[in-house]
Amino acid sequence: MKPKSSEQYISEIKNLKSKKNAIILAHYYQTGDIQDIADFVGDSLALSQKAASNSADIILFAGVKFMAETAKILAPEKKILLPDLLAGCSLADSCKPGDFKKFLEENPGRTVISYVNTTAEIKAMSDIICTSSNAVQIVESLPPDEKIIFAPDRNLGNYVLNKTGRDMVIWNGTCHVHEEFSLEAIIKLKNANPDAKIIVHPECELPVRLVADFIGSTSALLNFTRKDDGNCYIVATEVGIIHQMKKENPGKTYIPAPPVDSTCGCSECSFMKLITIEKIFNCLSTEKPEIVLDIDIIRKARLPIIRMMEISEKLGL
Ligand code: 13P
Ligand code: SF4
Repeated sequence: MKPKSSEQYISEIKNLKSKKNAIILAHYYQTGDIQDIADFVGDSLALSQKAASNSADIILFAGVKFMAETAKILAPEKKILLPDLLAGCSLADSCKPGDFKKFLEENPGRTVISYVNTTAEIKAMSDIICTSSNAVQIVESLPPDEKIIFAPDRNLGNYVLNKTGRDMVIWNGTCHVHEEFSLEAIIKLKNANPDAKIIVHPECELPVRLVADFIGSTSALLNFTRKDDGNCYIVATEVGIIHQMKKENPGKTYIPAPPVDSTCGCSECSFMKLITIEKIFNCLSTEKPEIVLDIDIIRKARLPIIRMMEISEKLGL
C-alpha cells in the first residue's frame, strides 16, 4: 500500500534504502525535504566524486538527467535511478550532438572542454569535463598556448575566459534559470539592504556578475556564506541552495535574487523541481526509471570525466 503523508513516504524511503543497499544523492537545487532525506547533498563536482566512490548497489539521483548519466558513466556496474526522466536541463538541451560535431569540425585543433551539464553523447565527444567548481583550474591546467573549445554555457565560458585570458571558442548555450536574473531587481534589493553581499553563480550573465561581491559554484557560494563575517546575502542562483545556507547559518539573512518574470520572487529550475518525495518513493520501490546508456558511450565519456577528476584531485578540489 502507498504511504499517504510525507512522513510516511520519508519513513518508507528510509526502509527501502536500507533493504536495497541504496543511497540518495541530491543536488542543492532540490527542495528542502529531499535534501534532508539524502545521504549526500552537493554540487555537480562533489556528486560525481561521491557517485564514483561508494559501496551502494543502487544510487537514486535526486537531480537532473545529466547528473544521473554522469553517475552511470562513473559506476556502470551500479543501478542508477532517476525518479523522473523528464528532469532534463535547458543548458544540456542547447547542445545537440549533430550540431556539436559540426562546431568541432568548424574549429579544428582545439582541446574540447565541456561542462558537466551536457548529455553523455557530448561528453563522449570531449577531451575534459569541468564543473563550475573547477572550470577555471581545468583551463589553467593546460599549457598557456593550448587552443580551447568551451561548451555549452556561454556565461561560464565568458567568466573563465575573463579569468584566464586563454584562446577559447565558446558554444552559445545558456541556462534558463541563471540567464533570467533581473539586474534592476538585484540593484533595488541592494539599495534596500545596503549591507547585503551579492553572491552569484558563474552561469549568470555578465551584468549580474559585474555587481557581484563573490562569484562561485553552488558549493563555493555555500562556503562563502559559511565563512564570511557578513549577515545578509542576495543569492543569484537557484533558490534551493538557500535551504543549506539556512541550515548551516540560521542567524543570517538570505534573499533570493528575482528573475525578470517572477511571481514567487525567486528563481526555480523547473527540471530540478520535477523530483518529489512521492516520485522518489515510487522509483525506489519499482527500481524504475533506470538510467541505461550505450556501453560505447560510457567507455568514451568516462575518459574526459576521469581526466577532470584526476586534475581536481591533484589540485585538492
Ligand atoms: P553546480 O552545483 O556545480 O554549481 O552547478 C549548478 C547547476 O546549474 C547544476 O545544474
Ligand atoms: Fe540545467 Fe540550469 Fe536547471 Fe542547472 S539550473 S539543471 S543548468 S536548467
